[in-house]
Amino acid sequence: MCGIVGYTGSDPAGPVLLAGLRRLEYRGYDSAGVAILDGSRMAVRKKAGRVKALEESLGELPAIGSCGISHTRWATHGPANDRNAHPHVGGTGEGTVAVVHNGVIENHAALRQDLEAAGVVFRSQTDTEVIAHLIAVELGDGDDLYEAVQRVLPKLEGTYGLAVVSPRCPGQIVGARLGSPLVVGLGDNEHLLASDPAAIAPHTARVAYLQDDEVVRLTPTDFEIRHRERGSITPRIDRIDWSPVASELGNHAHYMQKEIHEQPETVRDACRGRLRRGEGTAAFGGLNMTPRQLRRVRRVVLVACGTSWHAALVGEYLIERLANLPVEVEYAGEFRYRNAPLDDRTLVFVLSQSGETADTLGALRESKRRGHPTLAICNVVGSTIAREADGGIYLHAGPEVGVASTKAFSAQVAVLTLLALHLGRLRQLSFTDGLAVVEALEKVPEALTRVLATELKIIEAAERLSQARSVMYLGRDLHFPVALEGALKLKEISYIHAEGYPTAEMKHGPLALIDPETPSVFVAPRGSLHSKTLSNIEEVRARMGPVIAVGTDGDEELAALADFFLPIPDVLEVVQPLLAVVPLQLLAYHVARIKGCDIDKPRNLAKSVTVE
Ligand code: G6P
Repeated sequence: MCGIVGYTGSDPAGPVLLAGLRRLEYRGYDSAGVAILDGSRMAVRKKAGRVKALEESLGELPAIGSCGISHTRWATHGPANDRNAHPHVGGTGEGTVAVVHNGVIENHAALRQDLEAAGVVFRSQTDTEVIAHLIAVELGDGDDLYEAVQRVLPKLEGTYGLAVVSPRCPGQIVGARLGSPLVVGLGDNEHLLASDPAAIAPHTARVAYLQDDEVVRLTPTDFEIRHRERGSITPRIDRIDWSPVASELGNHAHYMQKEIHEQPETVRDACRGRLRRGEGTAAFGGLNMTPRQLRRVRRVVLVACGTSWHAALVGEYLIERLANLPVEVEYAGEFRYRNAPLDDRTLVFVLSQSGETADTLGALRESKRRGHPTLAICNVVGSTIAREADGGIYLHAGPEVGVASTKAFSAQVAVLTLLALHLGRLRQLSFTDGLAVVEALEKVPEALTRVLATELKIIEAAERLSQARSVMYLGRDLHFPVALEGALKLKEISYIHAEGYPTAEMKHGPLALIDPETPSVFVAPRGSLHSKTLSNIEEVRARMGPVIAVGTDGDEELAALADFFLPIPDVLEVVQPLLAVVPLQLLAYHVARIKGCDIDKPRNLAKSVTVE
């Protein structure tokens, strides 16, 4: 989703900003722009499309200077075109301020009306432009941009991460945060401002995260942070846990492919140091809850969006099975506004790869406001959700760049398996059964390597699937969420309609869709309900529906029923989802590749959704 990069120092700002924007491309966007100060002159360039288009336009009409702000926009108010791209300019002549903004200003229509009544002429359809005009009005003929921004903030309802420059204040950037992340990068005689540490990682590892309601002023040699009510504050300096090498593509064609292939390591890292063979259980460092407190828990609520929601659904089956605890899985965007009854023995977990998803963050805050211990399962260290949760579990999956989440799903499912084991061993799960789970988890990385080695078979199935207009994904029990995730992967990156269903539900409606042009993908490794699934596959075949089946290696009966059989190794049922999802990820990946889609940047989608 939208990205912000600002730079003030002694290097030319243009190349620094463009390089930073390129590092944010993975988040998903549809236009890009810069505002660069050359002494007291300001040049604004913006373009619909990719950062490359902006770079070309800067090639034709350069913008010189060593202080500037830049942005990648993901359209919310107004279509993706040059005018609506950020920065937005306010004030007279060429403009007295330029603003880039992440988030949504909810009262923009009323603010716009007032400004128009006062004679201000708007150039775009965005909600952001009101901020530029309001700051220009507050700045007036003066040159205290820091104060002007602070006077405008109370008028804004909604969320923002802002970066502002003015030709009246050479070398200066002002930033502000409410509900949309911003981080300051501290270099030698240079300072940076970004919405994501990835953008500034090559410059410096020393950062200061802004908190909500904080406003910052940067110059090449200095920076100051104020809280809107409490005044000047002493910032905490952190080090970024981000190796630029980990985000390089290597010899893979796309980040998604690279991340799918990293999964043996991902699961190993998620389990590292957490398995306790001697006690047949798992342990975590950051839960901040004693065994006694965890034993008191009578109900677990898991809250998330997108792929994280699917991982949570696998978690529901696992926790119910291993710990015999009731679990509910909630969409964060629903949970935060519903009056969901939670009693004092309910434990709430939010799950988020990025730790910045607006709805999930809103759910975390709502749960905490109601006084519930709220823990997070999160990948990005230092993200807002990780910082605000009462405790939690990190995924240690490393940076995930592909918009379609893959390795984060596996890391979440691995961590949820550990959590189910931990909660189970505090209750009725025997040592022997616990140990069986520990041993099964230890074998998963090697089993994943064997699944990845079947890629050629998966490509054959992908060729058939790439002709389809609609695909059904079906699974029972633990594999129902895997089917949902398989369908999500296909629609996200190949734009083929796909639906996930519990296998048994098929005959209550979706069976009507089955014909020779509509393939069904069954997630059907051997397990307690296997024979029932085989009957359901017969029902699809009887209606001439093509069948792709993910099943246990050596399952001749299933292989005979399927047009394409995709084998996974024979493992304990509770760890099967970790293996079964991989052929589905690769299937979606190869279908999208065959169709020539932009795999790492699918249309209309964003990696980290920071608006509601
Ligand atoms: C977006 C991404 C998905 C992701 C979801 C939740 O929709 O495109 O891949 O699953 O957000 O993101 P989170 O970072 O909270 O896990």
